[in-house]
Amino acid sequence: MYHYSNFDHKFVAERVAQFRAQVTRRLDGSLSEDEFKPLRLMNGLYLQLHAYMLRVAIPYGTLNSRQMRQLAMIAERWDKGYGHFTTRQNIQFNWPKLEDVPDILQALADVEMHAIQTSGNTIRNVTADHFAGAAADEIADPRPIAELIRQWSTDHPEFQFLPRKFKIAVTGSPHDRAVTQAHDIGLRMTLQDGLRGFEVIVGGGLGRTPMIGKTLSPFVPLEDILPYLEAVVSTYNLLGRRDNKYKARIKITTHEHGIDDIKQRIEAQFSKINPLFTGEDMHILKEIERHFEPPNFKPANPPVEALSTTSHTPAFRAWLDTNITPHKVPGYAIVSVSLKKPGTTPGDASAAQMRALADIARDFGHEELRISHEQNVILPHVHRADLPQVYHALRQADLATANIGLISDLIACPGMDYCALATARSIPVAQQIATRFHALKLEHDIGPLKLKISGCINACGHHHIGHIGILGLEKAGVESYQITLGGDAGADAEIGTRAGPGFGADEIVPAIERLLLGYLQLRIDRSESFLAAYRRLGLAPFKALLYPQARKAA
Ligand code: HEM
Ligand code: SF4
Repeated sequence: MYHYSNFDHKFVAERVAQFRAQVTRRLDGSLSEDEFKPLRLMNGLYLQLHAYMLRVAIPYGTLNSRQMRQLAMIAERWDKGYGHFTTRQNIQFNWPKLEDVPDILQALADVEMHAIQTSGNTIRNVTADHFAGAAADEIADPRPIAELIRQWSTDHPEFQFLPRKFKIAVTGSPHDRAVTQAHDIGLRMTLQDGLRGFEVIVGGGLGRTPMIGKTLSPFVPLEDILPYLEAVVSTYNLLGRRDNKYKARIKITTHEHGIDDIKQRIEAQFSKINPLFTGEDMHILKEIERHFEPPNFKPANPPVEALSTTSHTPAFRAWLDTNITPHKVPGYAIVSVSLKKPGTTPGDASAAQMRALADIARDFGHEELRISHEQNVILPHVHRADLPQVYHALRQADLATANIGLISDLIACPGMDYCALATARSIPVAQQIATRFHALKLEHDIGPLKLKISGCINACGHHHIGHIGILGLEKAGVESYQITLGGDAGADAEIGTRAGPGFGADEIVPAIERLLLGYLQLRIDRSESFLAAYRRLGLAPFKALLYPQARKAA
């Protein structure tokens, strides 16, 4: 993985020193909270409902054991012993004391991490496929280009005050696990005549006006990608609306001007900018690629079949069924570690769990870890012969929940429990749904299902692109949960359709239960997933399941 250059070390160290001085001035009263706000936001420090919240970037979701161990240390020493992994491959610490934040940033710098540009109207943490470098279906590892984009966008002098925040996601696989169509820019690696390049998608986003991104160019060759991105962002910087923050994202710029007009402007800008890029970026990329050389994989012995012997417990076999994904190297597997044990807060990990993950990655995973946008942790390179030991070690750390891709593997934003913008709670709803379906023992029968919950229209919990989405709102002082159906985050992403009026806090879990028990009756057979059944049958039968009173009244 990437290791900081001298420049990176110096840059991050300078930022920590600057922020330490700013915090000192805030604490002695020479800066008011209003004056301090833009300074703290440049370093990922938010003020939330109960406390400051520090958002730390995990670039393209990649961590090594040492970094994970440091996150555990920070959680234990300066927070309440846990951290929250988010849908943007960041980790959030919910309870830091202001006076400790400079030390936390120093501890992060010590392991080549930072919180820069995790807030503000800047290019945010670049996200990528969480199976990058390991996925069997990958054209090439997307992380070198993601790292190049991180270096280009960090402290980019022109892009520190964009009209609004700007999010870029990259995938190297045709199977899109990075939700590229719900980002300001999505990059999908493709090959043309054997040459590597990217389909560039623009104007996707969730929030109060969800939009699926549109293809700006079906193929931009690799060597043109940085000037092309510069052309997109600089065009948006001039054209994007600054009069209304709800209309400021590039999705609205694209919508208002039309994709053809935007494309024309971007291409004109690209022809101006391109000659200024002398190819130095490609030299830097070559250098970066060396950091992403695959680890020293072990031979594919013993044979893969060794795992399917009956000597293993049903619990282990269930875990193999749900939490393992094929690896590009024979004999290896990708292990997804669920942070969604029913009843817990989705995405939270305790310091002890983070340490256990760091140890398992050291002992069985070539020191590598990933964070997924689905708020889980990935061990990307595990030899299949080590899977029983990995499972055992995960069990010891209470991390062996076998539910990846099932209903209890749901996404939820922090909602009213932490977030100052929330209109409803999302964590308790997530916990209740997971606990209920775990008790019903129907999860495996229901099969693949993406349920996503947000605590307000900002949609941090991705509810629009859940097969089932839940949006928590407030109506006359009471929480109300709106359900959307048929959304999807895959290669042909879709925004879900609102099913009808919202449900009260005590009605939402029974409503989801009616919906899914009904689906079990409606599907052709076990092979027809919830989403497939919805696509075949449309909204009506599912709506009838959600609102049986309306059917009776009719
Ligand atoms: C707790 C403090 C947070 C605040 C104040 C906050 C604020 C916001 C706002 C205002 C938006 C809407 C932006 C727009 O439509 O232009 C948004 C979108 C989003 N946020 Fe958050 N958020 C927070 C936490 C999170 C967390 C914890 C996650 C990950 C779990 C997250 C991930 C996202 C995502 C994925 C989107 C939608 C994608 C898009 O930008 O279109 N946010 N957030
Ligand atoms: S969706 Fe709303 S409640 Fe949830 S984290 Fe985002 S801003 Fe907060």
